[in-house]
Amino acid sequence: MTQKENRRTAIVTGGSRGIGRAACEVLAAAGNNIVINFAGNRRAAEETAAACEKYGVEILLAQGDVSCPEDCDVLVSRTMEQFGRIDILVNNAGITRDNLLMRMSEEEFDQVIATNLKGSFLMMKAVSRQMMKQRYGRIVNLSSVVGLMGNGGQVNYAASKAGVIGMTKSFAREVASRGITVNAVAPGFIQTDMTAAMTEAAVKAAASAVPAGRMGRPEEVAAVIAFLASEQASYVTGQVLAVDGGMY
Ligand code: NAI
Repeated sequence: MTQKENRRTAIVTGGSRGIGRAACEVLAAAGNNIVINFAGNRRAAEETAAACEKYGVEILLAQGDVSCPEDCDVLVSRTMEQFGRIDILVNNAGITRDNLLMRMSEEEFDQVIATNLKGSFLMMKAVSRQMMKQRYGRIVNLSSVVGLMGNGGQVNYAASKAGVIGMTKSFAREVASRGITVNAVAPGFIQTDMTAAMTEAAVKAAASAVPAGRMGRPEEVAAVIAFLASEQASYVTGQVLAVDGGMY
């Protein structure tokens, strides 16, 4: 087989910006073909694609909402049509709808659970049959330190990210004997659009709680995702790796 035919295929949800974009780039640099899922911003997804194409890998841009089961199935069938296999899934798509519990609406709670928790479930379910058939798979779910330690104003987000950890550890046990690993990364405060909305005072306060004394960069999370998604990480499963500058 040529080197091209030997390439593995990675799906990254919410890959148009932030940690997702950095994950796409580092997985492309490692020689994987990349399926860039994006919710709505095609232009941003095309920028990610251009950054990945530099590495000579093939790219599929796929719009879709991870909280919608039909969209997840279409994402997987389009990937299969183009590449014929699915080796890596990075469940990166995520949202926040912050509010104090007493003021949090049911809608704010449900939206966050639907994208962060149910979306990760739906995507794992959608790729599982193919990964089982291949007897190979690497799944990396984005949790958060907030899922480990809690955070005022983020009851919904913390519940979704703690849920991701439980789901990761459980699915890891179900598929370990099939050559499929399932792990989570738990980033701390990372400089992306998600944290850009924070006030300067909030950023200062957050950074002062980090032993490293600064926010993290998306590439620093992507490097850990790339390791867990690599063939070399074959005996690591059901783990949660914090990427948080020593915060937790
Ligand atoms: P971001 O807001 O920059 O990017 C999130 C991406 O997910 C966006 O491209 C967005 O369009 C996409 N997305 C949202 N809902 C979607 C849906 N229903 N279907 C498909 N795509 C959807 O966020 P960032 O910071 O890059 O976060 C990436 C992941 O890392 C998220 O799961 C987040 O919760 C997690 N995380 C981020 C931290 C941070 O400090 N930035 C800390 C801990 C975890």
